[in-house]
Amino acid sequence: MAVLKILHFPDPRLRRRATPVVQVDDEIRRLIDDMFATMYQSDGVGLAATQVNVLKRVVVIDVSPDANQPLVLVNPQILTRQGEAVMSEGCLSVPGVREKVTRAETIRFRASGRDGESFEQEASGLLAVCIQHEIDHLDGKLFVDYLSGLKRQRIRKQLEKQAGSNLNRG
Ligand code: NI
Repeated sequence: MAVLKILHFPDPRLRRRATPVVQVDDEIRRLIDDMFATMYQSDGVGLAATQVNVLKRVVVIDVSPDANQPLVLVNPQILTRQGEAVMSEGCLSVPGVREKVTRAETIRFRASGRDGESFEQEASGLLAVCIQHEIDHLDGKLFVDYLSGLKRQRIRKQLEKQAGSNLNRG
């Protein structure tokens, strides 16, 4: 397993739309394993392939407190949305930033798993928010897009400054 490089906002590559996976084969399973390694290493609860510069509709999630309930979503689709939840969100592509976002409280979704089998499930709370956040990534959308332009601009400057000082450190 390899830890992959995560793209950071405002990298324009985060804005591209991922394409559906035709078949869950060994290459996709390797991607899934690498994405889990990358997510767990950064203490994240979710990661979309777009964030590691792979334009395939693959998402990995683990919202369990002990990080031992991996969930794989290939070609995820939201079927229904209900209610509203406001949650403070963060993102591995927007390090050090947390902001409140309003999303659906409960969703029903369909996806394929690591074995390529399609399944349908209902989710609410943190898991529902996480799935919506990750599917957004596959469509080139980031949680900062839900904030005011002013706030987004501030975050952009903050991250560009961080990236600059990382470069200076070599
Ligand atoms: Ni994210």
